[in-house]
Amino acid sequence: MKLQRVLQYAQLLLSQSINEGEIAVDATAGNGHDTLFLAQLVGESGHVYSFDIQQEAIDSTINRLEEHGLRDRTSAILDGHQNVANYVTKEVAGAVFNLGYLPGANHDVITKGETTIQAIDSLLQILKINGMIVLVIYHGHVGGKEERDAVIDFVSQLPQKYVHVLRYEFINQKNDPPFIIALEKVKQFPKA
Ligand SMILES: C[S@@+](CC[C@H](N)C(=O)[O-])C[C@H]1O[C@@H](n2cnc3c(N)ncnc32)[C@H](O)[C@@H]1O
Repeated sequence: MKLQRVLQYAQLLLSQSINEGEIAVDATAGNGHDTLFLAQLVGESGHVYSFDIQQEAIDSTINRLEEHGLRDRTSAILDGHQNVANYVTKEVAGAVFNLGYLPGANHDVITKGETTIQAIDSLLQILKINGMIVLVIYHGHVGGKEERDAVIDFVSQLPQKYVHVLRYEFINQKNDPPFIIALEKVKQFPKA
């Protein structure tokens, strides 16, 4: 068996945790590739909530979904993923983040450690047991290393009784290759 490439592995993890009829979240819609993948996983009876702070990304995501006839099972939301709890109140089976900037757009608009962590924290509360949050961490751009370090610091301290945290990374590749952090919820957090 060959080692799974980073993006393939992210999809494998998501496909193992999300079933038809469930709810999934694309925290960084971008050009909609992950939203489309999630929409296929949740099927006709499921739903995908997709977030981005750029209108351009929301439009591109909607176009991709329409091309595939999957618009009805998705909500494309022009707002930051840190506000996920304002939109998603039901149990979530899986979520994905692609950190960094929108390919082909302004490189100044990037995901940031503070808001990414807020979104992870909110999603962990509403994630089903055995559900998965998959982060694809791009860190080669300006600001990328700060976000990477903040996110790693946060997830490293999550209590293992409630969340299993995996890092999947090719360590001999050049030029800051992306890597995965996957969070599997194993037990409900105590109510605050
Ligand atoms: C690497 S791109 C995502 C690529 C996407 N998964 C795709 O399939 O094309 C990161 C995206 O995150 C968006 N973003 C930045 N900060 C955000 C935030 N706080 N909430 C939601 N999206 C955000 C950017 O606008 C950008 O489109």
